[in-house]
Amino acid sequence: MVYSFAWRDRSSPLSVEAWRQLARRRLPAIAWKYIEGGADDLITVAENVSGFRRWRLRQRSLIGVGTPGTAATIAKTPLSLPVALAPTGAAGLSHWTADVAAARGAEAAGSRLVLSTASSYSLEEVAAATQHSRWFQLYPFGNREHVGTLMKRAEAAGYTALFVTVDVPVVGNREGERSEGMGSSWSLTPRRACNMLLHPRWLRDVVIHKRIAPIHYRQMQASGDVPMPTKLDVVRRIFMGAADDAVRSAEAQSRYVQADLNWEDLTWMRDRWKGALYVKGVLDPDDAERAVDQIGADGIVVSNHGGRQLDRTLASIDALPAIVARVGNRAEVYLDGGVRRGTDAIVAVCLGARGVFIGRPYLYGLAAAGERGVQAVLDIFRAEIARTLVLMGCPSVSALDRSWLLSPRDTI
Ligand code: FNR
Repeated sequence: MVYSFAWRDRSSPLSVEAWRQLARRRLPAIAWKYIEGGADDLITVAENVSGFRRWRLRQRSLIGVGTPGTAATIAKTPLSLPVALAPTGAAGLSHWTADVAAARGAEAAGSRLVLSTASSYSLEEVAAATQHSRWFQLYPFGNREHVGTLMKRAEAAGYTALFVTVDVPVVGNREGERSEGMGSSWSLTPRRACNMLLHPRWLRDVVIHKRIAPIHYRQMQASGDVPMPTKLDVVRRIFMGAADDAVRSAEAQSRYVQADLNWEDLTWMRDRWKGALYVKGVLDPDDAERAVDQIGADGIVVSNHGGRQLDRTLASIDALPAIVARVGNRAEVYLDGGVRRGTDAIVAVCLGARGVFIGRPYLYGLAAAGERGVQAVLDIFRAEIARTLVLMGCPSVSALDRSWLLSPRDTI
């Protein structure tokens, strides 16, 4: 055996949790709290994770699985694993390469990114930088003209699937973010300045590359539809905490724009979008049924926005079975929220999801190592899924069903 000594440990983190620890060290408080935080008392954030841990996997012996099949199809796209990347806004806070790195890292791992409306790179930039990344998440912000323009841009750039997020009628109460000044007029306090100076690489990239602001909102402001703060406004705001009316109303319009979003709006979007359409942020089987049967959605993403919106709503994995039972035979059902291990993805597939999306886990990889980190996190999921299948005695992801799961109740 060969032993070697390294002054710094350059080995790649072994788990999502290890990437999380690394990301935490790399990021200043404002970015960390933005990624990690959730609504109110973080009850749903915690239950998204703990909900998976109640399930037990069946273990069959002497099956001789050999090399298991990890492939799955998500949003009509064959992937090398049943895990894809959920949309996350302001990914530039994690790493300046943001959505481009996430999309490229996903492709390198045989997966895909859903690009957020609140992305740091435009949908055209991401399309130009990737071969296959053509899924777009839509926040129906502003008026129908804005929404229609974004949909046309996505279609022109070759996007094939639209994920309409319906769980942000207002922004949830994320006190971690708010304590760092996000969502209101941000000012540079001595504490914030010191904290950022302790992360010089991050700060340098923010200043040089300027990839934090959501670019589609900025373009909307630049087109004159939304009042645009002047440079002086921004300087006053940062150094004196002064929120003048232009800043306030621009923020208000970009952040609180879906309060009256309703089924008619969704019908309007369905009528205009020729590609596949998924409704993201559904937890109730009645809503899932209406989205599929009346609106004609291709599928549902069972999601509570990673516990960032309504605290004390159902954990995603707890909401999944009833939605699968209601629409699973005629629509694609996916899940996100709390997926941290390959075993979590397996539990979700056993309960009827065709695949899962991850949010925070890939942001940890992105924050710590850019594109390489995103790919590494997906590779961890694929390896964990493959190993688990062999240990269970199950030949492939496509062979998983409810019979492979035991709840603690079944075991008594
Ligand atoms: C999100 N999420 C999200 N969803 C969406 O539809 N549009 C968006 O712009 C964002 N932005 C965003 C930012 C950050 C920092 C996070 C953590 C999440 C929600 C996301 O798509 C997904 O639903 C959750 O992240 C899934 O939960 P986990 O995997 O983070 O536990």
